Amino acid sequence: MDMILLSKMVNIVTTKGLTKYYGDLKAVDNIDFEIAKGECFGFLGPNGAGKTTVMGIIYCFMPPSAGEVKVFGMDVNKNPGEIKARIGVMPQEDNLDPDFSVLENLIVYARYFDIPKKDSSKTAWELLDFVELRQKADVNIKELSGGMKRRLLLARALVNNPELLILDEPTTGLDPHSRLSVWEKLRQLKLKGTTLILTTHYMEEAERLCDRVAIMDSGRIVAIDSPNNLMKMHGGNLEKVYLKLTGRRLEA
Ligand SMILES: Nc1ncnc2c1ncn2[C@@H]1O[C@H](COP(=O)(O)OP(=O)(O)OP(=O)(O)O)[C@@H](O)[C@H]1O
Ligand SMILES: [Mg+2]
Repeated sequence: MDMILLSKMVNIVTTKGLTKYYGDLKAVDNIDFEIAKGECFGFLGPNGAGKTTVMGIIYCFMPPSAGEVKVFGMDVNKNPGEIKARIGVMPQEDNLDPDFSVLENLIVYARYFDIPKKDSSKTAWELLDFVELRQKADVNIKELSGGMKRRLLLARALVNNPELLILDEPTTGLDPHSRLSVWEKLRQLKLKGTTLILTTHYMEEAERLCDRVAIMDSGRIVAIDSPNNLMKMHGGNLEKVYLKLTGRRLEA
């Protein structure tokens, strides 16, 4: 490959021998992967495969049990603060603050990143527009529907204008319109150079958004490639490839 092109390929995440135990349970089993700057990278796999665990380690929520994990070239064990400042996270579970309104949730979250109040207020309104929640700005979190909470979590993940956005099942529970609208937002973020890592159970989502996917099963990566290459290599659509590689059956 062209040397100039090669030198431009910067890895945002690199893992070597990444392993995670919860007590005796090996949730992530010795995995290696690299995610390049600007890439949209997806983790697919059945419930319990280890996807959320891998994400949690990348965003420095918990340390690996073994192996090396570098984000922006820094070790997650040594520089968690610097790494976290440059990442946005949309978690699988809703952890919005029920004591605050929709708008306040964004403004309060911005404080963790030392963003001044006047800037955070402007950003918060822009983000509410981005996820189509302006009309809900003053309502309490308890009054939001499940899909609205997912969209607010996406907005909150963008408060610090992250270089790397981590999305754990970003469109689970969304109606078809909201799902398409989130896909569109993610495309826009990708166009401006944001690196995206997501998990999904929707093969269409993976096919449409991801440059490459890792299919995980029982803590291991069983395949890693572009959706197109995986389909060419194994035949059939991505769902067929997924079922084949994870040993699952449609009727199971
Ligand atoms: N905090 C925890 N303590 C103990 N075990 C855990 C913990 N979190 C996850 N596990 C276990 O680790 C394994 C991987 O879980 P993980 O949440 O990473 O899976 P996942 O691929 O994200 O699944 P899902 O598709 O259901 O979200 C599972 O066996 C799970 O029961
Ligand atoms: Mg999960």
